[in-house]
Amino acid sequence: MNFRITIICDNSVGPISGTLGEHGLAVLVEPARGEPFLFDTGQGATLLHNLRRMNRDPAAIDKVIISHGHYDHSGGLLPLLQTGRPRRVFGHPGIFAGRYRLKDNGERIEIGIPHSRDTLEEAGAVFDLSPAFREIAPGMFMTGEVPRTTPFEKGDRELFRNGCEREPDDTPDDQSLVLATEKGLVIILGCCHSGLINTLEHTAKAMGRRDVYAVVGGTHLGFCGREQLDQTVAALKGWGISRLAAGHCTGFAASARLWREFPSAFQPAQVGYTLEA
Ligand SMILES: [Fe+2]
Ligand SMILES: [Fe+2]
Repeated sequence: MNFRITIICDNSVGPISGTLGEHGLAVLVEPARGEPFLFDTGQGATLLHNLRRMNRDPAAIDKVIISHGHYDHSGGLLPLLQTGRPRRVFGHPGIFAGRYRLKDNGERIEIGIPHSRDTLEEAGAVFDLSPAFREIAPGMFMTGEVPRTTPFEKGDRELFRNGCEREPDDTPDDQSLVLATEKGLVIILGCCHSGLINTLEHTAKAMGRRDVYAVVGGTHLGFCGREQLDQTVAALKGWGISRLAAGHCTGFAASARLWREFPSAFQPAQVGYTLEA
């Protein structure tokens, strides 16, 4: 085993009694050798509780990755920092952008990172921000910005950025984490706003290999159109992925479809779900 991956925050919980759910994602990545990394932090309501419930000390985690600047991935960063020590925080320079969701009734809901960079730095965050593909620890890579190349991955058309009201926000800061393991590549998704197939293709190109063993996390297929789901399923069939552990923004309907299409690979990535690779 090279890595143990555990879902700490998700929209739904598994059988570990006392864990709590919220709309959000946090994934603990524990290498067999080396320090643990926390990939995303949820909204902030369940992170510390669930870590402790799963016998992990929040103060022992000093490396954090923010996949993108949405509240449901970044809101737990301040409570984590407040447990008392400086943390190195990896991400994209665009994570601090102001952004909102426009609901079908015209209501505008703020969805950006809920704390300012100054506030987070005062609490001990040391940001390490880059838009580029890079290795952040042995065998652990951040994808950097993911080029939008497939014609069918149009993303979530209800997201906008403050000051660019007419242009949907395609969330360029969205990054995934790639682990090189003895079973193949494991890709951990935040919301995968760039599209699952775009992320797979970009990862394969950057890593020079296409042996993806597992995909874990939010696919955002629950917020994209039916055409994107159909074409994503068709394209995924060419990848031969052994573990498709979807959660968070995948949603019930897209999860059901993925389970039907990939019955031996699909697993719901609920709080407490663990993958070793
Ligand atoms: Fe999300
Ligand atoms: Fe998101």
